[in-house]
Amino acid sequence: MGEFISSTTSVPETGSVPRHVAIIMDGNGRWAKKRYLPRVAGHRRGVEAVREAVKACIERGVEYLTLFAFSSENWRRPPEEVSFLMQLFLRSLEQELGKLDANGIRFRVVGDLTPFDPRIVEHIRRGEELTAKNTRLTLTVAANYGGRWDVLQAVNRCREADPRAPITEECIARYLSMSYAPEPDLFIRTGGEQRVSNFLLWQLAYSEFYFTDALWPDFNAQSLDEAFASYRRRERRFGRTSEQLLQGEAVKQAS
Ligand code: IPE
Ligand code: IPE
Ligand code: MG
Repeated sequence: MGEFISSTTSVPETGSVPRHVAIIMDGNGRWAKKRYLPRVAGHRRGVEAVREAVKACIERGVEYLTLFAFSSENWRRPPEEVSFLMQLFLRSLEQELGKLDANGIRFRVVGDLTPFDPRIVEHIRRGEELTAKNTRLTLTVAANYGGRWDVLQAVNRCREADPRAPITEECIARYLSMSYAPEPDLFIRTGGEQRVSNFLLWQLAYSEFYFTDALWPDFNAQSLDEAFASYRRRERRFGRTSEQLLQGEAVKQAS
């Protein structure tokens, strides 16, 4: 670990396609409500949108796709909705893990798994092992995930590793639950809300943010292309000036 550049300690290389895309899949409930359906019908359709997003990301050369499926605050929802989401998660794991593996996808889950049904945890662990050596795309599902939880558990692990050493950025980054991935280049939130809702707080330091009113079940390959087109128009300065970036380009072309 520690093989990835930290956006605050050095300037990462960037390309025209985001290497790591992180998405808050929001708007399932409203998608269903618009159709006079129960909220859970939106979650069911949301799984189909996940399949499409995974496929589109592979086709476009994305290396890491991270999806926020259930936040540490989502336990506050009505118990019937929470238990539906848990069943849907279990069913999706049962149905999709083999397909993910067949498509060369490495599967990971981040979040505090202690409150989950042991059957879910078992499927997650088995799926992670099954797909560990795949290299086409790393698909991470954030479940019972919270950005503050992640930073805190990393700080605590730094302390445990060396109780007398000062806590450093490098150590925190090493113990964050997604230390196996570079920081997200592009953060997408569907459903019209413009907030981070305790997603990857540490790692979003220099990500480009893209918000769309599209509800998650309606988000498709074309929506992803629109997000990528917006991303390509951004100038990622990482604290530097525009002139410095242009000079850097000129030097690169001359050599
Ligand atoms: C996102 O959709 C899915 C989860 C949080 C599990 P929502 O369920 O939040 O949908 P809205 O925001 O109520 O429309
Ligand atoms: C964020 O969506 C979490 C997920 C998509 C899993 P929410 O719908 O829970 O976020 P808030 O409550 O509107 O901020
Ligand atoms: Mg929501």
